[in-house]
Amino acid sequence: MLVNGVPYRTIWRRHEGAIAFIDQNLLPHRFAIKEATSVEEMAEAIRHMSIRGAIALGAAAAYGLELAAHRAPDTELPAALHHAATLLKQTRPTAVNIAWATDSVLEATAEATTPQELRHLLRTAVDKLVNAEIERCRRIGEHGMHIIKSLAEKKEGAPVNILTHCNAGWLGCVDYGTALAPIYVAANNGIQLHVWVSETRPRNQGSALTAWELHQHGIPYSVVTDNACGHLIQRGLVDVAFVGADRITRRGDTANKIGTYLKALACHAHGVPFYVAAPTSSFDWSSHAKPGHIPIEERSSDEVHTATGIYQGTLITVRITPEGATAWNPSFDVTPVELLSGFITEHGVFPATIEGLEELAAYAHASS
Ligand code: MRU
Repeated sequence: MLVNGVPYRTIWRRHEGAIAFIDQNLLPHRFAIKEATSVEEMAEAIRHMSIRGAIALGAAAAYGLELAAHRAPDTELPAALHHAATLLKQTRPTAVNIAWATDSVLEATAEATTPQELRHLLRTAVDKLVNAEIERCRRIGEHGMHIIKSLAEKKEGAPVNILTHCNAGWLGCVDYGTALAPIYVAANNGIQLHVWVSETRPRNQGSALTAWELHQHGIPYSVVTDNACGHLIQRGLVDVAFVGADRITRRGDTANKIGTYLKALACHAHGVPFYVAAPTSSFDWSSHAKPGHIPIEERSSDEVHTATGIYQGTLITVRITPEGATAWNPSFDVTPVELLSGFITEHGVFPATIEGLEELAAYAHASS
């Protein structure tokens, strides 16, 4: 996507042994490129959320393995990759794309007979995985656009109001986005729309990242507090909700940024369609876990105690709870499939029903 007219991906290989990425922690106030040259640096960038969003995390994990392979002496290569995979998988437990990418890349090296061949196969697998994820997101945009288009037809030229949560745009992917991808395609096709951007406390991925993305692309939006969304939905100010996903079980229960569940409940209560946009890499087909058993990342309570912003040109973090206050910070919640309308994937839009999920699983297996 374009930043000040220049095309960017969220993460890319700068040269052998150096992976560049946009530091999402500094947005929207600063646009800065950082670099990881070891798997430890990559794991740190993931843990501190300089790189975040399910699809970008999968790409970062794949590049992390490449960095480990680049640095390891030939004799220590298998052990170094094993260590790297373990380290990467521990960074963010809910995002299934990390384990998926790590396992896929390692699987592609299984037939290697020399260290040189292993490095070559690994690099090829990383490129293939990253490019395939970009293409999946592009197709999500094309398929999801039809949902917006049919709502626009019903509204006879009045803007379609779309609610989104967190950042499931191109920053959270490598390009295009998931939940935002259909919005970009619809806007490019001249469809009138307006996006409600929920701020997404405690890290504000909505007000910081989604607002920045939409602003870059000239798409009309309004940031609202997380708590305002029920009111908007009740007043008929939301035509459809699009969110991303970090892990979707076989049944369709969807783990996404904390706060997604409440929005889905409100949409369900008021008959507003609620779609999850995600590539099949975010589906955990082996998981039959009940919503209460999906691993949920807990992050530092400091994220709840503080807020970060810019003051007179300097990024500052201030305390917003009383000294000594206790807090808890679960980072994701699970929306049961019953509250969802459908899944927007690279294979098309599938209803959130047993039959819809079965059909999607068949497509996913046929193309893997
Ligand atoms: O904690 P984050 O910011 O990594 O959480 C991201 C989300 O919940 C996104 O909605 C999801 O990863 C989809 S990103 C394309």
